[in-house]
Amino acid sequence: MKGIFRTKSIDALMDETKRDGGLEKVLGTFGLTMLGIGAIIGTGIFVLTGVAAANYSGPALVISFIIAGIACGCAALCYSEFAAMVPAAGSAYTYGYIALGEFWAWIIGWDLILEYAFAIGTVSIGWSGYIVNIINDFGINLPKAITSAPLAGGIINLPAVLIIAFITYINVIGVKQSTTVNNIIVAIKLIVIFLFIALGVGHVNPTNWHPFMPYGFGGVISGASVIFFAYIGFDAVSTAAEEVKNPQKSLPRGIIISLIVCTLLYIVVSAILTGMVPYLKFKTTAAPVAFALQQVGYHWGAALISVGAICGLTSVILVMMFGQTRVLFAMSRDGLLPKVFGHVHSKYKTPARSAVLIGIVTAVVAGFIPINIVAELTNIGTLCAFIIVSIAVIVLRKKEPNRKRVFKCPWVPVVPILAIIFCGGLIAKLPHVTQIRFLIWLVFGLIIYFGYGYKHSIVTSQSNNDQEKTS
Ligand code: ALA
Repeated sequence: MKGIFRTKSIDALMDETKRDGGLEKVLGTFGLTMLGIGAIIGTGIFVLTGVAAANYSGPALVISFIIAGIACGCAALCYSEFAAMVPAAGSAYTYGYIALGEFWAWIIGWDLILEYAFAIGTVSIGWSGYIVNIINDFGINLPKAITSAPLAGGIINLPAVLIIAFITYINVIGVKQSTTVNNIIVAIKLIVIFLFIALGVGHVNPTNWHPFMPYGFGGVISGASVIFFAYIGFDAVSTAAEEVKNPQKSLPRGIIISLIVCTLLYIVVSAILTGMVPYLKFKTTAAPVAFALQQVGYHWGAALISVGAICGLTSVILVMMFGQTRVLFAMSRDGLLPKVFGHVHSKYKTPARSAVLIGIVTAVVAGFIPINIVAELTNIGTLCAFIIVSIAVIVLRKKEPNRKRVFKCPWVPVVPILAIIFCGGLIAKLPHVTQIRFLIWLVFGLIIYFGYGYKHSIVTSQSNNDQEKTS
């Protein structure tokens, strides 16, 4: 057990990221903000708003969005402090390594693997659902056998597998290409959201906002723990750290601007949505935003929203896969995962092998497993990572008070403690079965850590060598 809480030095870490064979630096604040919005706006707003309004929050959906937004806002400030101080690809995993040591770093890394892999799976299945609907609108009925997982009455969810294959290819050929694609689809996604706001605002009927909290305040918090999914992704911005031209300035800006833009849009959209349609009507739809426009007679608007949703979901998969490969890259560089995850392609300068492996695993998840079981696991894994990062900010302020912090999280320890309380509260509101599944995931991770990572850790072997030299 010796050495499991060994930390990494920030200076050594930054040297590592500068070595040859590193990732290409092409991103600025704008590209990063678009990356953030690309990861954030997706299934949460286009699919889960209906689920949360109908079953948990009622018209108080807007309050659920504000509560989840506060949890994420506090966590984002903590992320920003680290991202500016340690712009390395591993994001929260790396922050944990510096402040809390290898063991906690592994736990965060393992949480992030859960977050990204299952988010990719969930969103790809949502993407498949939208595509199948649109193809249906053209009068073509795709057989269930090729559009659903075995346990959902089909054989394989082929559209979900195909979108993952396409995004894997984009991630392999390079970050420059993938950010260009991302910028275009984010623009389309924002246009359709503004279109919804413009068309919907005139059809708000305030009587739909009564009763405001039909399931009580507990329901509003449960709603927040579900639509928390809508905010996941701002953390993916920090995984791009090693591809940013001026990371100390751009990273905090990219994280905070993308989160503010999305929070404001979510608040406006959720208020309009619940004002347009009685909340119980959302029980019958998986596409609440398009459905609301249909209800007030804008069929063309609903069709455009569906196209925008498909773009939105595509960019979420793109950025999540990007984030996943970067976290694995960092964990492999530290020896905690096999070298294959850290290999950088000589021509494309991307972690191509890792991207292909992730593509295969997530395609299997999306193609063959009904994802509803694991969707909530995405939330719990992310919330847990946010809590550990918030603790890490407080710990590092104590351990290294004089280290230069280009961006400082305000009011430490109040803001990190608020993040811990809000994220902890949301975890408590998730179903028990999700909490148990998450514990099983953690135990599985610990077996891998003690079976492989602990033995191959570069930090541990370096410090053992140093000890041998001095003795
Ligand atoms: N926030 C992302 C979404 O809502 C994961 O799809």
